[in-house]
Amino acid sequence: MISCVLPAGAEAPAGLFPGRPRDIAARGLRKSFGRAEVLRGVDLDVPRGQAVALIGSNGAGKSTLLRCLMRLVEPCAGSVRILDREIGGMRTRELRSLRAQVGFVFQKHNLVPRLCALSNVLHGAQAREHSPRLWLQMLATDGNRLEALRCLEKVGLGHVAERRVDTLSGGQSQRVAIARALMQRPKIILADEPVASLDPQAGMEVMEIFLELIRREGITLVFTCHSLEQALRYSDRVIGLRGGVIELDAPSASLSEQSLRGIYASA
Ligand SMILES: Nc1ncnc2c1ncn2[C@@H]1O[C@H](COP(=O)(O)OP(=O)(O)OP(=O)(O)O)[C@@H](O)[C@H]1O
Ligand SMILES: [Mg+2]
Repeated sequence: MISCVLPAGAEAPAGLFPGRPRDIAARGLRKSFGRAEVLRGVDLDVPRGQAVALIGSNGAGKSTLLRCLMRLVEPCAGSVRILDREIGGMRTRELRSLRAQVGFVFQKHNLVPRLCALSNVLHGAQAREHSPRLWLQMLATDGNRLEALRCLEKVGLGHVAERRVDTLSGGQSQRVAIARALMQRPKIILADEPVASLDPQAGMEVMEIFLELIRREGITLVFTCHSLEQALRYSDRVIGLRGGVIELDAPSASLSEQSLRGIYASA
């Protein structure tokens, strides 16, 4: 641990939310690719409703950690409990139903460019319901179409519902991707550099909207980013990965950009 960050006897950062259940609880997570050890024993507890910024230099293992939490990448060792369920031994169907409660937002939004914003948001419901009626908004039930529109309105994009997403700006597209994640009705969102491809102004705007929604809906969030300003401004807690372990874990309010720089020194 970087000792200057957490004074001796300071409250553990997870304790920012006393009494809340742990939506994410990982123990001893290890992951290697060939001989390269990327995660070397990561323990992580995230209480319900907490927003956690995960930082670290390129290749530190941030994306790998997010993926291991949902077994999108299979960890080599360790255990993970998500929403109080151990995911290690889960069969495909169980895992799928758990993943339906976890939204992912990536740097590359992976929207279907030729479809309108509303149809793309509708696709979020596929996590919980399998039906061809979720492919296109014109096939959707009134209930689903209305819910998708509400999700778009939550990110301020109700007015572009029928526009093809390849005519939207990068910031608008990322907001559509957030609306699609909301359509899943997730309890947790894992966001890997959600605004990295946006200019600083658009990035801040999208993060503002994102965090307001997370708070309002009580969603637990873990996001990665390379902007220390964003990490501090939009999280309750910052976790820094270095050398395959958590080297920094502290309430955001106790940190400054200066105090975070050490995490980028070579391991
Ligand atoms: N599927 C894979 N096969 C082999 N090596 C991989 C694979 N995925 C990740 N790695 C390696 O694991 C290490 C950690 O990668 P990861 O993408 O998790 O880092 P990161 O912290 O997200 O980096 P960045 O800030 O650049 O996104 C890197 O050295 C990467 O090359
Ligand atoms: Mg990454």
